[in-house]
Amino acid sequence: MRIDVLTIFPDLFAGFLQTSIPANAIEAGALQCHVHDIRAHAANRHHKVDDRPFGGGPGMVMMCQPIFDAVKAAESQDPAADGVVVRVLLSPQGERLTQPRVEWLAQQPRLLLLCGHYEGIDERVIEELNPLEISLGDYVLSGGELGAMVLIDAVARLQPGVLGHEESAAEDSFSVRTPDGAHLLDCPHYTRPREWNGRVVPDVLLSGDHAAVDRWRDEQRVARTRARRPDLLAHDPLANPQPLPAANKHKSATHVARATRSNAPDTGGGLHGETAPEGA
Ligand SMILES: C[S@@+](CC[C@H](N)C(=O)[O-])C[C@H]1O[C@@H](n2cnc3c(N)ncnc32)[C@H](O)[C@@H]1O
Repeated sequence: MRIDVLTIFPDLFAGFLQTSIPANAIEAGALQCHVHDIRAHAANRHHKVDDRPFGGGPGMVMMCQPIFDAVKAAESQDPAADGVVVRVLLSPQGERLTQPRVEWLAQQPRLLLLCGHYEGIDERVIEELNPLEISLGDYVLSGGELGAMVLIDAVARLQPGVLGHEESAAEDSFSVRTPDGAHLLDCPHYTRPREWNGRVVPDVLLSGDHAAVDRWRDEQRVARTRARRPDLLAHDPLANPQPLPAANKHKSATHVARATRSNAPDTGGGLHGETAPEGA
């Protein structure tokens, strides 16, 4: 997949894209990431990208023109076969990022991530671009760059072949699902030594009984989810915990809802409301 990032701080991405999973994904050819400086598209002598807000008040607002031109320039590069680019604006006012949305985004051939700064972005260019607005959570960051990195990391690790077997995403929190689709947290993990600071590894993990280990892990996932995130268990099918079918676990990390979208670069069309990922 290809990801274009639009930012006024492109240097922030250099170390990130050269490290760990995003770097592996790029190296493996599963991900192309292009970072564009919005400032380079400002049609004024001083490459100014922001101005004072109409109506007064504190802070600066990012102007329409540099952002719009940067989007058009990025989208015109290497157009995907079907011309579809999913535009994403990082925004505290957007849909809260969840694993089902990450899984859906990871299936798209092209994403364009727009990072705001200052007080935010002139509303008119947001309306014109009609992006999917994604929030990291109910708090305010100084800019969208950290959000873009979170998103890139989350989708990179779901690209086929990027994670080795030992770090498979299929058994992570939010990827394992009960047979009726509730998302579960991961089970606890242990490594050597068997005893540390008077704390011992659960016997079952040393038993060599793989079926018993699987059962224990399933029970732990359910118990943890109940204790820590009962909201994930919308309707509690877990009163009688059932073992999770292995096939279900492996499919879940890459399973996405079929959703329609229309976001051709030349029309400026956007992502429409019917794109909610399964379980979101
Ligand atoms: C200081 S914030 C602007 C906040 C805006 N005035 C508001 O209150 O909604 C600047 C930029 O940081 C990014 N940002 C801040 N909080 C974020 C969050 N929770 N999730 C994603 N992006 C965020 C957005 O790109 C935003 O345009």
